[in-house]
Amino acid sequence: MSDNTITRIMIETAFVGAGNMASAIVRGMLNKGFCTASELACTSARDGTGEKLSAATGVALFDSLEEMLRAAPGIRSVVLAIKPQQFAQLPDSVAELTRGKLIISILAGMPISRLVARFPHAANIVRAMPNTPGQIGAGITAYASNVPLAADRLSDVEGILGSMGPVLTVEEGQLDAVTALSGSGPAYVFAFVEALRDGGIAEGLSPDVAFRLAMHTVLGSALLLEKSGEDPAELRRKVTSPNGTTQAALEKMASLDLHGTVKAGIRAARLRSEELARG
Ligand SMILES: NC(=O)c1ccc[n+]([C@@H]2O[C@H](COP(=O)([O-])OP(=O)(O)OC[C@H]3O[C@@H](n4cnc5c(N)ncnc54)[C@H](OP(=O)(O)O)[C@@H]3O)[C@@H](O)[C@H]2O)c1
Repeated sequence: MSDNTITRIMIETAFVGAGNMASAIVRGMLNKGFCTASELACTSARDGTGEKLSAATGVALFDSLEEMLRAAPGIRSVVLAIKPQQFAQLPDSVAELTRGKLIISILAGMPISRLVARFPHAANIVRAMPNTPGQIGAGITAYASNVPLAADRLSDVEGILGSMGPVLTVEEGQLDAVTALSGSGPAYVFAFVEALRDGGIAEGLSPDVAFRLAMHTVLGSALLLEKSGEDPAELRRKVTSPNGTTQAALEKMASLDLHGTVKAGIRAARLRSEELARG
C-alpha cells in the first residue's frame, strides 16, 4: 500500500471549497489540535485556492468532491464552504456517496430542505452561520441540525465549527435572525469604528490617532465586557458620571435614536436574509 493510499484512508473531514472560510476552519482545527493534516482533505474549483490551502497546511487536495469521496470512503464529515450559487454545480452522484455521513453547510441562506434534497442519505445535515472574525478564531457560530446529533457527531460538529470560536445551537427558523445579528454584525461594528474615528477627526485629532483610539476603544470594551461578565448596560452606567461628558454624548445619541436605528438595521437584515433564502 502506498503512502498516498494510507493518507487517503485516514481522511475524516472533507472540505468542498478552499476559500476564506474553509481555510479558516482548516487552520483553526489544526491550531487547536482537533486533528492532524492527514485527516483533512479539500477540493476547489479553478482559482487555485485548493492548491494554496494544501501547500500551506499539508491537507490532501482532490479534483472534485466525487473523486475525494470515492478515494477516501472513511470520510465522516463533509463541510460545504462554496458560494451558495456554486451549490447547483455539485453532481447528482454525491447523493449516494454521502450516505451515512455528516454534512455541515455554512452556505448563507441555504435551507436545510435544499441540502436534504441533494444529500438525501446523509446521517445528519447541519446548517451553520459563522462570521468573519472566525478567520482568526474569534468568531461565533450558530447552527441548526435536521435531526438530533448523536454524541460522536456532536463532537465532530463542535470540533469543526468550534475551530472558529464559540458554537451554539438554534432552531433553523432563527438562522435569519442570527445572520442579521452575528453574521452581518461585524460590519455594523466596523461602521461604528468608522463613525468613532470620523468623530475624533471632526474634533481635531489626526486620522491615525483617531483610528487607533477608536479601534482600541472597541477592542478593549469588548474584552472588558467578556472578562467582567457584567451586563453591557451596567458597564455603560459605570462609565457615565452624572452630568459628565459620557452622559452628554449618550443623551445626544439617544435623542437621535441610536438604539432604534441599530434594531431597525437588524430587522432589515433579517428580512433580506429571508428574501434571499426564497431565491
Ligand atoms: N465570509 C463570511 O464571513 C461568511 C459568513 C457566513 C457564511 N459564509 C459562507 O461561506 C461560504 C464560503 O465563503 P468564502 O468567503 O470562503 O468564499 P470563497 O473564498 O469565494 O471560497 C469559495 C471556494 O469554493 C470553491 N468552489 C467553487 N465552486 C466549487 C465547486 N463546484 N466544487 C468545489 N469547490 C468549489 C472555490 O474554488 P476556486 O477559488 O478555486 O474557484 C473556493 O475555494 C459562502 O457560502 C458564504 O455564504 C461566509
